[in-house]
Amino acid sequence: MAKFNATSTTAEVLQGKNLTGQTVVVTGATSGIGFEAARSLAAAGADVIITGRSKAKYTTALEALQTAVPGARFDAIELELSDLSQVRTAAAHLQTKAPRIDRLINNAGIMACPLSRTAEGCELQFGTNHIGHFLWTCLLVPALRQSTAPRVVNLSSAGHKYAPVN
Ligand SMILES: NC(=O)c1ccc[n+]([C@@H]2O[C@H](COP(=O)([O-])OP(=O)(O)OC[C@H]3O[C@@H](n4cnc5c(N)ncnc54)[C@H](OP(=O)(O)O)[C@@H]3O)[C@@H](O)[C@H]2O)c1
Repeated sequence: MAKFNATSTTAEVLQGKNLTGQTVVVTGATSGIGFEAARSLAAAGADVIITGRSKAKYTTALEALQTAVPGARFDAIELELSDLSQVRTAAAHLQTKAPRIDRLINNAGIMACPLSRTAEGCELQFGTNHIGHFLWTCLLVPALRQSTAPRVVNLSSAGHKYAPVN
């Protein structure tokens, strides 16, 4: 089995993989790691649905992805993780587009922001990165269960080494 580490590229990880027919959802793919994951997975054949917080941003990302991987199937929905009512709306909307989800990559996240709170009053990083994605994933279980080999990937961080959960 191939071994990967922090210096491995997406091309190395996906070498020889054919994801044709697989539906992959990547949260927060308007930039950064999420964008790159969406691009790489589509290049390996997956149908990729990205999420973004605003139509302007996810439309720009969709255009860039389509240019990067011509012929790939991309779609996008709006998702705001810091408001659980919006998480519920987005999860319902996503399942009208994708009744089966093979891979869910929970990538969206914020860090080191000034103290502020979610719609429900949680500290914003905890509420967005953890609570929002937790509800989102629970709500998508019916679509994940339609896959023969579903997988959920949660992006993490070494940030916990700097401070306890306060
Ligand atoms: N980059 C690193 O060195 C590093 C290190 C450790 C962990 N990570 C983790 O890896 C993941 C990706 O990091 P990145 O550096 O690629 O991040 P990034 O470029 O800042 O992108 C973050 C994404 O999350 C979305 N997002 C932010 N708040 C959101 C909310 N309330 N609801 C829904 N979406 C939201 C953003 O959407 P908008 O476009 O709408 O802003 C954006 O698409 C994060 O979970 C991060 O914690 C990254």
